[in-house]
Amino acid sequence: MQYSLGLDISTTASKALLVDAYGSVAGSAASPHKVSMPHPRWSEQDPGDWWDAMCQSIRRVLRASQVAPAAIQAVGLTGQMHGLVMLGAAGKVLRPAMLWNDGRAQAQCDAIRKALGLERLVRVTGNDAYTGFTAPKLLWVRDHEPAVYRNTRQVLLPKDYIRYRLTGTLATDKAGAGGTLLLDLAARAWSSVMLEALDIPGEWLPPTHEGPTVTSVVSAAGAQATGLRAGTPVVAGGGDQAAQAVGVGAVAPDKWALTLGTSGVVFAPCARPFVDGAGRAHAFPHAVPNRWHMMGVMLSAAGSLAWYHDALCKGMDYGALIAEAAAIPPGSQGLVFLPYLTGERTPHADPRATGAFVGLTPGHTRAHMTRAVLEGVAMGLRDNLNLLLEAGLPLPREVRISGGGAQSPLWRQILADVLQLELRAVSVAEGAALGAALLAGVAAAHWPSAEAACADVITTHAAAQPGPGAAVYDGLHARFASLYVHLRPYYHA
Ligand code: XUL
Repeated sequence: MQYSLGLDISTTASKALLVDAYGSVAGSAASPHKVSMPHPRWSEQDPGDWWDAMCQSIRRVLRASQVAPAAIQAVGLTGQMHGLVMLGAAGKVLRPAMLWNDGRAQAQCDAIRKALGLERLVRVTGNDAYTGFTAPKLLWVRDHEPAVYRNTRQVLLPKDYIRYRLTGTLATDKAGAGGTLLLDLAARAWSSVMLEALDIPGEWLPPTHEGPTVTSVVSAAGAQATGLRAGTPVVAGGGDQAAQAVGVGAVAPDKWALTLGTSGVVFAPCARPFVDGAGRAHAFPHAVPNRWHMMGVMLSAAGSLAWYHDALCKGMDYGALIAEAAAIPPGSQGLVFLPYLTGERTPHADPRATGAFVGLTPGHTRAHMTRAVLEGVAMGLRDNLNLLLEAGLPLPREVRISGGGAQSPLWRQILADVLQLELRAVSVAEGAALGAALLAGVAAAHWPSAEAACADVITTHAAAQPGPGAAVYDGLHARFASLYVHLRPYYHA
């Protein structure tokens, strides 16, 4: 049997997923890492921790599956998008990586918008400047840590740092490159307009490749660290949202992906570059050649529930916590949770926004609060769904839900009610790692294309459809949406 291996550097863990040439999962392993938030709005990780965790995961999956390294024909990479890894001479990491939910670079976003004008920025890159994107964070380092900036030789995304350690090669994928704000969306190539306007040296950026393209092979050092065979081809892969979309089969405009990971994402594949004129939604290349996508991204989705659990219900089983909430009627008897714990990206581009419980009374219990968290996240996703529809995309034939939060039947039902959409679920939970493994499988000729791999491998089942709660939530959504508007002056005071 022949295999491909998907590697995912997510925010919470480095994961390895081994898939055979028929798309069946032969094994998986995840090694956790922590996020450091040393100041309000900062969010960082040590790239060395990703590599150590990834080496462990690869070794564990090889051991547990008993698959010989020589049977693995290709490796695919995916991981958290937008992260800024800065390397100096000899590949030395110069500072902790600044993550996708880091909100310190607002002044740099304003400066980028001013330098190009919003209309031109969106015309070239497909996007407005958001604090989590790579370019604004790079300019923050220029403004606040000039010695680091001076010593910089290379800028990489998180998964491409793993590629560098695994193969010794500098390269990235088109979908991930889109999330830097330095890519020309239509040309799928680094934008000289952006590089010149922001005075960023083009030689700092690695070459870009389509998702299933082989960028390099596992080096002797990479093989020694991971147990993989030296010479194993490594493909470009994709940013985690694009890879997740491949892993759930959302590669054509008729199927969208809804992801409840740390972040919450509504992802719409497009047959051509499609942008929101005001840059309110993201537009990037897909991990599949000749496809693009739009998406709305909320920063704290399952991340909100993880915070709530750790801060208030630590030690309690998630299943038991959520089961309590099932007994509470839709609307949580007037209690509303705003999920802006790490600021917000879309539709409110506001790193100063914070989370809130609004409407607490003595009648509310932990069960109400839990339900309010699940509902608040669903309401945020509805805002993002509306964003894509307002940009002019038609509703798709099918919406596929995945991510850790999608494991909960109650949360799925709340989502179906709030979004008023029938949701389908996929069989493999690790969607991004599966997507990366499928892109690698295309390079290994297990499938002729990513579309063929998806059609062959991904099966879905009914997950939830709108029920009686839908009418209640429909009435409540405007009140939820008004809360950010009312609180904004407070956030910014
Ligand atoms: C996407 C984004 C997040 C991270 C999380 O734009 O910022 O989904 O990729 O891993």
